[in-house]
Amino acid sequence: MRTLFPTLVYSAELDGRGRDAFNAQLLREIRQLRLDDAAGRRWSARNYPGGYTSYGSASRMQQASPTFAALERKLARHVRAYSRALGFRLPARSLVMTDCWVNVMPRGVVHGLHLHPLSTISGTYYVRTPDGSPGIKFEDPRLDRMMAAPPRRPGRGGPWVVVPARAGRLVLFESWLRHEVPANPVRAERVSISFNYNWF
Ligand code: NI
Repeated sequence: MRTLFPTLVYSAELDGRGRDAFNAQLLREIRQLRLDDAAGRRWSARNYPGGYTSYGSASRMQQASPTFAALERKLARHVRAYSRALGFRLPARSLVMTDCWVNVMPRGVVHGLHLHPLSTISGTYYVRTPDGSPGIKFEDPRLDRMMAAPPRRPGRGGPWVVVPARAGRLVLFESWLRHEVPANPVRAERVSISFNYNWF
């Protein structure tokens, strides 16, 4: 039996030393940003009802904050490992973080199904994940071709796989892979940082 065209999703712990203090600092900055960022709150009201994201207003946080720049440095070895596992041949150029933005999801907020156009690798780092808050839900990329496919055992493909969100962990995936975050059912806010990498 051969496995053809596998879809790889990477998940790991960010390095452990000082991580709680690091996350606390990220959380402070994210909350301050939400207070300061009127344009982002307006953008979120239209595009992310009930939540706050800086995607439309402050989407290069790695250039705006030393803390986010430190996150970029901590992510680098994970992105390299994932790129190696994918078999990317990138001789002269390396993957560069092009975007980095924050997401705050209070109760009831949903992030609908989407992909990240014009990027190569995308991912999320979890800052705060209250018990019961949702993971990230990936869609089997073959779903639109499964005209008469029977249901399968768990782990054997389709149509959805949820990767749990845990504070201090990151998830990387290829940017074409569609995903969503289901509604947050708990009162406490789920806080994450998302990012894109590109090689051209
Ligand atoms: Ni996304």
